[in-house]
Amino acid sequence: MTRIAHISDLHFGALEPGAVGALGRAIADAAPVAVVASGDLTMRGRPREFAEAAAFLRSLALPILAIPGNHDMAYWNLAARFGAPWRRYLGAVEGVASDELLLPGAQLVGVNTSRPLGPHWNWSHGALSLAQARRVEAAFAESPPGAWRGLVAHHPFQPPQETRQFRPVRRARSMLEALAKRSIDFVLAGHLHRTGWVFSAHIERAFGRSVLLIQASTATSSRRRDQPNAFNVLDLSDGALTLTPWALRDGSFAPGEPARFIRGERGLRTAP
Ligand SMILES: [Fe+2]
Repeated sequence: MTRIAHISDLHFGALEPGAVGALGRAIADAAPVAVVASGDLTMRGRPREFAEAAAFLRSLALPILAIPGNHDMAYWNLAARFGAPWRRYLGAVEGVASDELLLPGAQLVGVNTSRPLGPHWNWSHGALSLAQARRVEAAFAESPPGAWRGLVAHHPFQPPQETRQFRPVRRARSMLEALAKRSIDFVLAGHLHRTGWVFSAHIERAFGRSVLLIQASTATSSRRRDQPNAFNVLDLSDGALTLTPWALRDGSFAPGEPARFIRGERGLRTAP
């Protein structure tokens, strides 16, 4: 079995007191083989916030795949925001994988969906490029046989019903089509600060198969949306995926009700 911890939206700079220590202890207890961080390490992209976030990631002493979120650009320094938006982020996560992480029985590929500026749409919803869709398709063409295949992005590809104020990331469909073509099992995302999962309606309609879209809440920030701080644990075994949210209550994270999925010819389906 391959166990992965999926953390998101840590937001160093706007932390819930005690949550970072509790998260470190919970990840040590869960003992995953790797950690995925799906964006928004910081609140305002300040150097001090990045330094603290980087120290936390190092303290986990595990293989990590991390991608940036829309909060990981310099917020106040406009020259940095538009001139070199990812310089601070990349300095902080030096040595951490962002494109791809190969684990026993699983391949994870990361994409940056955050953009500093968008002329025709609200940039905070994020965007993908056709080049990114092609890169992802090419990366998964090399998947080891039978390996679980997961994409990591910050912005959601299909926001759930209760968060309709969020729009899907721009060009989500091109990416989803690349994912369907390569039989990707799941997408790990954040941004909404809510825990949840949904099957891609577009993939089901257009390709008759399923891609599971998994959301992790904010693990450590005080910017919650009527849910506790939480992260996800994914257990990938032969033909089955178990998704367990771990929520913060009374100073420590504890596992909640797991959701189980069976892997078949046409992707994942909910276990009976
Ligand atoms: Fe966030």
